[in-house]
Amino acid sequence: MCGIVGYAGSRQAAPVLLDGLEKLEYRGYDSAGVCVYNEAGLNMVKAKGRLSVLRDRLEGGTALPGNVGIGHTRWATHGAPSDVNSHPHMSWTGKIAVVHNGIIENEARLRAKMYRKGATFQSETDTEVVANMVGYYYEKFGDFVQAVRETVMRLEGSFALGIQCIDHPDTIIAVKKDSPLIFGFGEGEHFIASDVPAILKYTQTVAYLEDGDMAVFDANSVTFYDSTGEEVAKKRETITWEMSAAERGGYDHFMIKEIYEQPKALKDTISPRLRDGKIDLDGVELPADYLNGLRKIYLVACGSAYYVSVLAKYIIEKTCRIPTEAVMASEFRYSDPVVDERNLVIFVSQSGETADTLAALREAKRRGAQTLAIVNVVGSAIAKAADQVIYTWAGPEIAVATTKAFTTQLAVVYMLAMQMAKTLGTMSDEEYDALVKGLEQLPYDVESVLDQKHLERCQKLASRYHAHHDAFYIGRNIDSGICLEGSLKLKEIAYLHSEAYPAGELKHGPISLIEDGTLVVALATIQDLFDKTMANIKEVKARGADVLCVTLEALEENASAISDSTIAIPAIHPMLQPSLSIIPLQLFSYYVALYRGCDVDKPRNLAKSVTVE
Ligand code: AGP
Repeated sequence: MCGIVGYAGSRQAAPVLLDGLEKLEYRGYDSAGVCVYNEAGLNMVKAKGRLSVLRDRLEGGTALPGNVGIGHTRWATHGAPSDVNSHPHMSWTGKIAVVHNGIIENEARLRAKMYRKGATFQSETDTEVVANMVGYYYEKFGDFVQAVRETVMRLEGSFALGIQCIDHPDTIIAVKKDSPLIFGFGEGEHFIASDVPAILKYTQTVAYLEDGDMAVFDANSVTFYDSTGEEVAKKRETITWEMSAAERGGYDHFMIKEIYEQPKALKDTISPRLRDGKIDLDGVELPADYLNGLRKIYLVACGSAYYVSVLAKYIIEKTCRIPTEAVMASEFRYSDPVVDERNLVIFVSQSGETADTLAALREAKRRGAQTLAIVNVVGSAIAKAADQVIYTWAGPEIAVATTKAFTTQLAVVYMLAMQMAKTLGTMSDEEYDALVKGLEQLPYDVESVLDQKHLERCQKLASRYHAHHDAFYIGRNIDSGICLEGSLKLKEIAYLHSEAYPAGELKHGPISLIEDGTLVVALATIQDLFDKTMANIKEVKARGADVLCVTLEALEENASAISDSTIAIPAIHPMLQPSLSIIPLQLFSYYVALYRGCDVDKPRNLAKSVTVE
């Protein structure tokens, strides 16, 4: 939520900042702005709307000369998207410019205090409070670094800040707490950014700032301080991603590119963990006596990561016979959960910075639980805070709607469940071996569902159904978990009202909404429950529903006898089947969104990383 960049070097800053913001637009895209220093002082240009509006205003950056600057792309929290609420924000003293990612929780109190000190405000944002505080302390102490320190020690909430001062034209100060911030080292130039892709074009050498860290830098030098104000050396790390990982390549959208990257992402996630027919999950330690003493496993996450957790409940309970519960992070943290050292709490997150998930993780730790995180972004807050971490190697996911992170999270869940079941002795060797084979084959199975035949089928069905107003996704057992994710994909990118229910639950209320032509997407990939789901399809057909059934190739004939349309996928090991079922639903949503003229990669009101509650 919100992305910040900063640059000090010999290049023109504005085009570098615009490049960086383009790569960070996934974090928020309702307005953007930059501040660049030149002989005219600190010059801010801001624009409501997509980054392209700012780019045009800046004539690609050429309209704003200068070599040092900061930039921001916004997802509004305090105040509606508008030019004036866009960042950067200037102190009322006219000397300090600030960009901010995060949320200042005590802003009302601080704002009142600054009013008493004589400050004036232009915007409704919490960030302007920060600018005014730095401005105030700069007037008081005449020292830029001290002014930032005095301010930061009074802030509650989360922040990654980039700050310029008119009297220190070559310098930028960056500081962070609970919002991500990386520092980039170039030749005679330095960068800050919320995420790696923003600076990858210019450097692959970075340092990750820790909470409380401050970087004071210009083109040629940088000094890092820790939260106590002590000077510290930061470890330089080399980013190994190809630039192309954060580019659209030949694809129209990141989402379709990322859908097609799933076989590779799965291979990268699974292969390093399979050795000699055994799973080795990065040294994750969950010994038998610990697992045997567990009274319950919780999985805690938000959105699609929560739906992975719902699927994990079915999978872990079936394989390990340990009671397991999936809980939304926003609920877990305030629910006074029954959690102590007899609970394992697993956190699932692509970004590793989702505010509710991070807060829930801290709560679980506070209560003495052992914590394990399944995370995609290396070095992210959740990865660092958990006792143990398993990375999904999906590579950067840029589209707001997750696809490859979802399927790789699911792959980690399979492996984790198998490792725990093996330790507990709740899975036979034959079953374990069959699953290992299934996992090895999984990337190729996913590839087979991404062939031309399935693509055209999903496209055709999208053209048929895209004008519908409502959709209901129904399925049983793990199919119902995939329904949740399929339904979310449709609503978030195609703005089509959609709900998901376990198929047997429909007649307890929601069926009253089924009328002539209502779209029902039914998942029927579980052999044992096939007849039950067919009975549910008959019930909605009897009320006029238009049913699209996703089923196994061997069951398609039976399904098509009572459904209006079908998509058939190959049968694989039943536990791994959800990894295949989700693919046509991703493609279907993508094409429905295209037919409805939606902005697939940047759906309205959403942002990729939800770093506020
Ligand atoms: C999924 O398409 C959504 N963009 C969203 O639900 C997402 O999964 C959720 O916000 C959790 O994000 P995280 O995985 O980065 O924690």
